[in-house]
Amino acid sequence: MRFLLIGSGGREHALAWALSASPIVSKLYSAPGNAGIAEVAECVPIGAMELDRLVEFANVEKIDLVMIGPEAPLVAGLWDRLEAAGIKALGPSAAGGVLEGSKGFVKDLCAANDIPAAAYKRFGDAGAAKRFAAELGLPVVVKADGLAAGKGVVVAETTAERDRAIDLMLDRPGDELVVEEFLEGEEASFFVLSDGENVLPLAGAQDHKRAFDGDKGPNTGGMGAYSPAPVLTPAVMEKTLERIIRPTIAAMAARGTPYMGVLYAGLMIKDGEPKLIEYNCRFGDPECQVLMMRLRSDLATALLATRDRQLNHLDLRWSEDAALTVVMAAKGYPGEYPRGSEIRNLAAASQVEGVQIFHAGTNQEAGKLIATGGRVLNVTATGRSVGEAQQRAYRAVELIDWPEGFCRRDIGWRAISRKQP
Ligand code: AMP
Ligand code: GLY
Repeated sequence: MRFLLIGSGGREHALAWALSASPIVSKLYSAPGNAGIAEVAECVPIGAMELDRLVEFANVEKIDLVMIGPEAPLVAGLWDRLEAAGIKALGPSAAGGVLEGSKGFVKDLCAANDIPAAAYKRFGDAGAAKRFAAELGLPVVVKADGLAAGKGVVVAETTAERDRAIDLMLDRPGDELVVEEFLEGEEASFFVLSDGENVLPLAGAQDHKRAFDGDKGPNTGGMGAYSPAPVLTPAVMEKTLERIIRPTIAAMAARGTPYMGVLYAGLMIKDGEPKLIEYNCRFGDPECQVLMMRLRSDLATALLATRDRQLNHLDLRWSEDAALTVVMAAKGYPGEYPRGSEIRNLAAASQVEGVQIFHAGTNQEAGKLIATGGRVLNVTATGRSVGEAQQRAYRAVELIDWPEGFCRRDIGWRAISRKQP
C-alpha cells in the first residue's frame, strides 16, 4: 500500500515510525515531514495547508491512503477534497470537524443526547452572559465560539476576569460564546477510531499543558504525556464509551454527517464519573507519541479499516507497559524563541533502553540537526511503570546537548505520586 502522511510535528513522526513498520505499507511519503520523519519516510516539500498540491501529489503518486495529522487541513476540507478526487483518506470530513471547530455545537449535541458534560448556555449578548455566569458562581468557564473561536477558553477565578473575558469574546457583531459550569476532578484524554458507525477504542493518556514544573506558567500545546492514565480505569473507559463516545457517533450519523477518523475526547473525571470537556478531531500531540509506543497491532491496517467502514472486524493489542514522553522546547516557548540552534548527541540518547526520540521541529542543514520550532524533540520511553519510563526518558534528556532548549523535569508526577490501589 502507498501511504501519504500529512504534517510535520512529533505526532506525525510517531505515526510515521509506526507506519514504517507495517507489513502492508510498501511506500511511505510525508508532506512536509521533518528531519526525524525523513529517517523512516520520503519527505516531500508540500505544506499541510497546500490542499491543491496535496491532492495532485496523491493522484500522481497513486496513493492508497492519506492520513491527515493536524486539525487545520481537516477543518479546511482536505478530506473532502481528496475523497472527491477518488483518493481514500482518514477523516473526518469538514462537516465532522465541527466536533472540534464549534464548542456550542458540541454542547447542544451533549444536551440533546444526555451526554454528561458541564451545564452551559450560549450567548451573543454580554449582559445576559454575565447574568448567567453570576448564577453559576466562581470559578466559571467562558469559551469563545463561532467567529470569536480563536479567542480561546478562560477559566475565570474572579468576577473581573470573568467579565473581561466575556467583553473580549463579544466585542464584534456576530461573536458568540459559551458560559459553562466549572468541573472539578482530574483531566484525561481518551482516543478512539470511528468509521462513522462502529467505534474502536484506542487508549488513554494524560498530558501536561503548562510550560513549567508544578503545572505552572503559560499554557502550551503540551510539554509531556504518558499512557496509560491511571484515572482511566477499565470502568471509567467503559462509561466513557457507552455514555459519551457512542451516543456522539450515533448522533452524528443520525444528522447525516457521520464521523469517520480519530476522535479525541478531553474528559474530566470525578469519583469515577467521566464528563466531556471537549472533542478534537485528530490525535493529541504529544499524546499520540505515547500511544504509538504502546500499540502492538498494525497501525496501517487499523486506519484502512476505519476508512473502509470495517472497524467491527478489528481488535487492537496494546502493550501492558507504560510510555512517557518529555517535550524539549526552545527556550522562550510558548512565547518568542530563536530558531536555528544546533542539537547534538541524539544518537547516544537514542541508545538508552526503551527510548525513542521523535522530532517535532527539526531540519537537517549541512549535516547538522537544527531546531526549527517551539516544541522541538519528544524524548519518549517505555517502562514497566510510568516511573520507570520517566527515569529512562530523563536519562536520555541528560545526554542531549542542546543549550538553547529546555524541558519540564516532572512529567508524569501525577501518575507516579498516585497511591497504587
Ligand atoms: P478546551 O479548549 O475546551 O479543552 O479547554 C481548555 C482547558 O480548559 C481544558 O483542558 C480544561 O483544563 C479547562 N476547562 C475547559 N472547560 C472546563 C470546565 N467546564 N471545567 C473545568 N475546566 C475546564
Ligand atoms: N496535547 C493537546 C492537544 O494535542 O490538543
